[in-house]
Amino acid sequence: MNVAICDIDKKNGEELAAQIGASARFYELDIADELQVTRTVEKVIEDWHKIDILVNNAGITNDRLLIRMNKADWDRVLEVNLTGTFLMTKATARYMMKQRYGRIVNVASVIGITGNFGQANYAASKAGIIAFTKSCAKEFAGRNINVNAVAPGFIKTRMTDAIPDEIRQNYLKLIPLNRFGEPKDVADLIVFLVSDEAAYITGQTICVDGGIVMQ
Ligand SMILES: NC(=O)c1ccc[n+]([C@@H]2O[C@H](COP(=O)([O-])OP(=O)(O)OC[C@H]3O[C@@H](n4cnc5c(N)ncnc54)[C@H](O)[C@@H]3O)[C@@H](O)[C@H]2O)c1
Repeated sequence: MNVAICDIDKKNGEELAAQIGASARFYELDIADELQVTRTVEKVIEDWHKIDILVNNAGITNDRLLIRMNKADWDRVLEVNLTGTFLMTKATARYMMKQRYGRIVNVASVIGITGNFGQANYAASKAGIIAFTKSCAKEFAGRNINVNAVAPGFIKTRMTDAIPDEIRQNYLKLIPLNRFGEPKDVADLIVFLVSDEAAYITGQTICVDGGIVMQ
């Protein structure tokens, strides 16, 4: 497969594309900006001719207790996480509908199911992604486009690097499998969801969290 890596972080995105090699290309964009999204998707189609799979993975946090959260803190998290997922899905689904094939995976979070202290904006954005996933799954099912969400728990990435050690240890106590997740734990689930083996699964949110949330 060819991979179009889309990210606002040029340095990191270019490094990742270089690591993968000739089958990957980097496209710089802010997924919250509609014009940048439509232009980037058009450019990807120009370069690779079609898009079979979309993984909406970009996301940010901006944690504060609700009483101290200002509108800008709220807006940016909703714009990137939820509006960005909407914009990317809309721009890409046009092409998937025409070709009558597509696989979309949206990266939500267990916080979108449970809520969390200091994360009202993030929790709302991720709960929105879960409901958005179900609506898209219903709208696109007739065109052979499956739409699912994954809900990671605590995964070792740049996003969680910033969490102080004491809080990490408290999180660890909540994880039945007694370890933090690796990015590969999430990637493996996404690979399954876009494979032919998952052809009969749509509209679902699957937790990959070491057992924190059991639904
Ligand atoms: N790490 C965890 O424990 C965890 C848990 C649950 C859910 N998630 C979700 O997993 C996804 C990946 O997060 P991660 O942990 O790898 O964090 P990360 O910060 O390493 O990756 C997020 C990526 O999104 C990019 N990004 C941010 N704003 C953007 C924008 N406006 N346009 C384009 N790209 C943008 C960043 O540059 C970064 O490369 C996110 O949606 C996050 O909410 C992570």
